[in-house]
Amino acid sequence: MKFIEPVSQVMRIIDTPDGAYSKKLAAKVVGVEGLCTFPVVAQMVLNILSKEDFKMSNVSAIIQRDPALAVKIMKLANSAFFSRGKQVDSIDKAMVRLGKASVVESVCAVATMNMFPDVDGIGKQIRDHCASTAAICQSMVSDLLPSHKSGAFLCGLMHDVGKLFLISAGESLYATMPVMERQKADASVPVERATLGYDHALLAAQLLFTWQFPAPIAAVVALHHEPGLAYQNEDVGYVVAMCRIASQVDRQLAFGVEMETEEFVERIATGIDGEFAAVSEDYLLGKWNDLAEARNQALSVFG
Ligand SMILES: [Fe+2]
Ligand SMILES: [Fe+2]
Repeated sequence: MKFIEPVSQVMRIIDTPDGAYSKKLAAKVVGVEGLCTFPVVAQMVLNILSKEDFKMSNVSAIIQRDPALAVKIMKLANSAFFSRGKQVDSIDKAMVRLGKASVVESVCAVATMNMFPDVDGIGKQIRDHCASTAAICQSMVSDLLPSHKSGAFLCGLMHDVGKLFLISAGESLYATMPVMERQKADASVPVERATLGYDHALLAAQLLFTWQFPAPIAAVVALHHEPGLAYQNEDVGYVVAMCRIASQVDRQLAFGVEMETEEFVERIATGIDGEFAAVSEDYLLGKWNDLAEARNQALSVFG
C-alpha cells in the first residue's frame, strides 16, 4: 500500500527497520475499509465535485437518493457552522447556499459520523469530542485567520475519528486506559504505537485519503500528534495547532476539574500550539462562553 506523504513521514520515524509497523497499518486500513463502508452516495458526490465542470443540481439530485444523508446535511447547512443567517428548506437551496467547498465539507462530515450511529461508552465520548472540537476549531479559525476557515470544521471533526475506527475494528486499548489519562493531550499515542505499531491519526488519514477527502484534511489529521513535523508547513501547521488547541479546550469544557480556566488558557497560550498559532490568553478568555456555545451546538447536530 502506498501511504500519503504525511503518513509516510511519520512511519519513517516510528517504523521498525523491516517495515513491520507499516505492514500492520496497511492491513488495518484494508480491514477497516471492509468493516466501515463510506456511503456510496457521499463517494459519488465527492467524485462529481472533484471535476472542474460539475453542476450543483447534479450534486443535490444524488444526495437526495440517500434520505438519511440528505436530512442531516440540511441540518448541518442550517446550523450556525454553515448557514449565513438565513434558513433553507430544500437540499437544492442548501447546495447553492453552501457552495462547493462547504458541500464537500458537510458531505464528508455527515457521511463519516453516520458510520458510527450506535457507539456508546468510550465511543460516544470520542464522537462527542470530535464534534465539539470541530465547532471550537472552526470558531477560533474564523476569528483569527478567516482565510483558513474552509476545512477547519472538518479537520476538527476528523482529528480523532481514527479512535472510532479502532474501536469498530475491535481494538480494546482505550478501555484499559484510566479515564483521566485518556483525556490528556497526546496521551493515547504512545500506547497505540506500542500496542499496534501505528496510531489513530495515521489510520484515519490514510482512510480519508482512500475516500477522496480533500488532501489538506488528511494531512492535518495525519500530523495532529506530530506538531514538530506539522509546524514545518505554515498552512497545515496552523490548522493542526488550532485542532490541538480546540481538542484541549473541549476537554477543559467537558471535564475542567483539574485547573481553573485562567490557568488553562495561560498554559495554552504559552505552549507550542498557542505560540505557533498566536492564540493569546486574552482571546481565549474573551471567547470562552462563545466556544462553550459552539460546542453545545455541535453536540446538538452530531450528538
Ligand atoms: Fe488525536
Ligand atoms: Fe482530540
